[in-house]
Amino acid sequence: MHIDIIAGARPNFMKIAPLVAAIRQAKEQGENINYRLIHTGQHYDKKLSETFFDQLNIPKPDINLEVGSGTQAGQTANVMIKYEAVLTDSKPDLVLVVGDVNSTMACAIVAKKMGIKVAHVEAGIRSRDWSMPEEVNRVVTDAITDYFFTTTAGAGDNLRKAGVPSEAIFLVGNTMIDTLLKNLPNLKQPDFWEEHKLEENRYVVCTLHRPNNVDDAEGLSTMIHEIGRSTNQLPVVFPVHPRTRKSLRSDDLPSNIVLTEPLGYLEFIYLVKHAKVVVTDSGGIQEETTVLGIPCITLRDNTERPETVEVGTNELIGTNPERIKPAFDTLFAGQWKPGKVPDHWDGKAGKRIVHHISALFAE
Ligand code: UD1
Repeated sequence: MHIDIIAGARPNFMKIAPLVAAIRQAKEQGENINYRLIHTGQHYDKKLSETFFDQLNIPKPDINLEVGSGTQAGQTANVMIKYEAVLTDSKPDLVLVVGDVNSTMACAIVAKKMGIKVAHVEAGIRSRDWSMPEEVNRVVTDAITDYFFTTTAGAGDNLRKAGVPSEAIFLVGNTMIDTLLKNLPNLKQPDFWEEHKLEENRYVVCTLHRPNNVDDAEGLSTMIHEIGRSTNQLPVVFPVHPRTRKSLRSDDLPSNIVLTEPLGYLEFIYLVKHAKVVVTDSGGIQEETTVLGIPCITLRDNTERPETVEVGTNELIGTNPERIKPAFDTLFAGQWKPGKVPDHWDGKAGKRIVHHISALFAE
């Protein structure tokens, strides 16, 4: 059988790495399973893309659609037009999409309209926040998916409530966590560690890139000042996403904020693993901190990953900057909740997915 694996943006790369590895292994063991890796080019900077391929040993994409940046509709449309041309030339048996970025939805739509089966990895999670483009991408993708690979029981419940039959839902765990656990022995201290005199458990990591938090320069500045004054003088390492860079006033920052370029995977996870706390608006980092047992303060009103709050170390504090200091106060008072790792996040999700796919297509 032939599978197209789709990846477009940074958070996709950690999710596809275990899938590619598991497919290669199955093939080596004599299974009739082949893949083509399609990079849409949604993320094209070396630091957001190529570095991840290198560090996670993902083979070079077979095809790069090179769509680049654009408006929501422009970027989605470009992926659709270019991927349709690829499928017109040759059709796989299955298109495997991961996560919730524009490339995920775009390729799922094209495949489905050309009569190709679609599988979605990380299906069924919901923020119920329609201001997030990712929520639209999730709901649309799941509306046309044939095989749903889920990270949690709650994601399966969401799908069943939307009418998906149980036979199409496979609770497999979390491929992003496969990548995290596999790479724990390979983490790299970032090269600015010494320069900024960072010490284990004595600094904060901050990431912000959601349009709601970063597109308004004034609001972003208020948020960063509030973080800077809340950390008991601890340095705040802040790798800046390109979107955030556009509205960040770097001449107006608290003195304990350390700005860096976007980091490689191994350097970023090293920083998170040794941090006192992470403050973020990312989706994936809520999961990574939960598995690493690091407190996570999430600057969002909702999360599509509720297990990280109910079971893990994550707290949602909303986007009002006034909520930041009290959260840090709780942490420094030693009152942050201990967390546990959600069921099935055990490093074997990629293998389970490939096992299910093989069985489905052998029928
Ligand atoms: C996308 C995803 C988001 C994910 C995030 C991780 C969607 C709707 N959003 O958001 O879910 O959490 O990636 O990073 O798919 N840019 C560069 N270099 C690049 C890529 C982008 O400079 O390699 C700039 C673009 O000019 C653009 C901005 O960053 O203005 C945003 O890029 P885009 O891919 O549209 O969305 P993200 O905000 O990165």
